[in-house]
Amino acid sequence: TRYEKIESFVKGFKLSSLTYKRVMSLLDEEMKNGLRSQTNTYADIKMFPTFVRSLPNGSEKGQFLALDLGGTNFRVLLVKLDGNSIDIQSKTYLIPQKIMLGTGAQLFDHIADCIAKFTRDHGLLGERLPLGFTFSFPCKQEGLNIARLSKWTKGFRCEGVVGQDICRLLHEALKKKTSAEIEIVAVVNDAVGTLMSTAHGDNNCEIGLILGTGCNACYMERLENVGLWEGDYSYPEQVVINTEWGAFGDNGCLDFIRTEYDRELDTFSINPGKQLMEKMISGMYLGEIVRLVLERLTTEGLLFRGIDRECELFERGRFFTKYVSEIESDRDEFFRSTKQVLDELQVENYTTEDCKIVRYICTLVSSRAAFLASSGLATLINKLGRPEMTIAVDGSLYRFHPRFHNLMRLKIQELVKPGLKFSLALSHDGSGKGAALVAAVAMRLRDVKQ
Ligand code: BG6
Ligand code: GLC
Repeated sequence: TRYEKIESFVKGFKLSSLTYKRVMSLLDEEMKNGLRSQTNTYADIKMFPTFVRSLPNGSEKGQFLALDLGGTNFRVLLVKLDGNSIDIQSKTYLIPQKIMLGTGAQLFDHIADCIAKFTRDHGLLGERLPLGFTFSFPCKQEGLNIARLSKWTKGFRCEGVVGQDICRLLHEALKKKTSAEIEIVAVVNDAVGTLMSTAHGDNNCEIGLILGTGCNACYMERLENVGLWEGDYSYPEQVVINTEWGAFGDNGCLDFIRTEYDRELDTFSINPGKQLMEKMISGMYLGEIVRLVLERLTTEGLLFRGIDRECELFERGRFFTKYVSEIESDRDEFFRSTKQVLDELQVENYTTEDCKIVRYICTLVSSRAAFLASSGLATLINKLGRPEMTIAVDGSLYRFHPRFHNLMRLKIQELVKPGLKFSLALSHDGSGKGAALVAAVAMRLRDVKQ
């Protein structure tokens, strides 16, 4: 029958609990490798120590600039912290694709231009402004404000930045573009900002997770477990680790679960062979996986009566992940959103049966993504072994997909050691509040040393 045939093209997305447990033990092993200094050069999961050593305690104060680069939006923010009260003003700017794929100089000049404009528009010239930079890419940090880019991920590939300290690049661009007195005091990954922001009011929060354009997690680790640590061992003997687990699988260890669609997506991406776990989970890729399956089913004559004319459904990158969220929010058989998406993609004469199949494919692809993310989180929860844990989560996929939160809650429950309790909490403004909190701690430490 039609359904049996369809099943034969999508069965690779249905993985057993045993398979997810196997993924967990592989991930655990890779994370341990990453933490060991001797093997880290070769490890795919980098486990970068961040120099963020303590979580906020509520006494943080001051006015800060923050920058948010690497998610859906590029933003400049002004954050005023005063104990538990926080005021944030922000503005989103565009980064044209030409710049995302241009040179590092062009990128940092553009960022500096936006900051210059923001400080002018907000009447901040003449004020001394510490800046916390949320830079959502893998960096090897040598200090709180020294961060060398290890590689670009997601949609960025700017020439001449890998290996460079991005704070120095920004600092130099700022010198050219503005007379404002801006000092970059901290660089944070978005997962770290997310963790900090939630930890501000919740002592049980030691894990941060991003499910957005990309996918990544961070957590608090004891220094004795961090072979890579090059800083001092003063109290508290702990540091936040940016796992960069999006790169899990880059050595081939996840090949046993990757489907033909995952392989094709990877081949046509700007970074083939890289970020393989991320490519099965995050918002930059889920829509395209769905599109590849729909295209295949169509050419096999199993969907849309096998249309073969020009149609936007057959264009790479044309099926956005927000469509997956919209289609899955159709709970009844009227398929209002599904039809809207199909109309937008110029699919004609589809039937209700076609809509049902499209929704089914979306649920398969998003469930696998949610379950893989759950396997990652369960691995961290088991590793930390605290009786009660809050996981701070941010990113458009988690925010807007109608089932992600519940799928994850149930799957993690199944995968964690008995007796460990956890909750997934949507984090607010990691890149604003979180980055400013890290900047505030940096300033406080500096004052203590002086
Ligand atoms: C935002 C955070 O809410 O989520 C960013 O402020 C983060 O720092 C982003 O990068 C991740 O989600 P997305 O979907 O924008 O990539
Ligand atoms: C990518 C980046 C990582 C970031 C994540 C979420 O995986 O490499 O640094 O945290 O996307 O934005």
